[in-house]
Amino acid sequence: MKKGEELYSGKAKSVFLTDETARLIMEFRDDTSAFDGEKIDQLDRKGMVNNRFNAFIMGYLEEQGVATHFDALLSDNESQVKHLDMIPVECVVRNIATGSLCRRLGVEDGLDLEPPTFEFFLKNDELHDPMINEYHIASFGWATPAEVESMKVQTFRVNEILSKLFADGGMILVDFKLEFGRFSDQLLLGDEFTPDGCRLWDTDTREKLDKDRFRQGLGGVVEAYEEVALRLGVDLEAPIAV
Ligand code: TMP
Ligand code: ASP
Repeated sequence: MKKGEELYSGKAKSVFLTDETARLIMEFRDDTSAFDGEKIDQLDRKGMVNNRFNAFIMGYLEEQGVATHFDALLSDNESQVKHLDMIPVECVVRNIATGSLCRRLGVEDGLDLEPPTFEFFLKNDELHDPMINEYHIASFGWATPAEVESMKVQTFRVNEILSKLFADGGMILVDFKLEFGRFSDQLLLGDEFTPDGCRLWDTDTREKLDKDRFRQGLGGVVEAYEEVALRLGVDLEAPIAV
């Protein structure tokens, strides 16, 4: 498959057209950002670690019956994915209260959420990804009621599958964000699942192993991502068959 022109460049990934209309190439760069692009930096190896980590998680979710856009790893920094019509909404599940939930609701950081809670955000950096509800999604036509239901069901299913996977590696999946898109008549999980878009704490020490290390200036960001990969048995040096 031939890489074509750049379709879109985000804060940490770039997306390219290919000679197949239904396929894109997603490139994970070493760039990292926080606070809607206010804080940015480049971290050596981050693109490679996230690309390979995302491939592992997407493959695992597929094995567990979650339909995703992921096709194959192409190189250290590139993956082939299906070309989705993205829904401009972020789906967040939280198992423990932290981050913006504590800022908005004044609840104690680290509180267990039973049952886990769910939030929708509008994907819009300029507006700082405001929280929205299902009525907004319906009134502005961002997704149909059936798509909203499917996003909720799939996000909770991903929570069940990945909470267990990370628990087996001695980690707590604190919260995460997913994005979905349309591919003919299907709704598929798109974007990425990496420590950039979730929070992971060591089960015993509650040490942060995710992008909060960058947001909070704790250092050792890529080292923590590599530690997460190691604990899940992801081989970051496996040869890539193309
Ligand atoms: P929050 O506490 O900042 O709302 O974040 C909740 C989860 O969603 C956390 O795991 C980080 C993730 N997230 C993103 O990946 N991208 C975003 O733009 C935002 C706001 C959150
Ligand atoms: N994803 C957003 C950014 O990169 C927000 C964040 O992760 O803090 O700026």
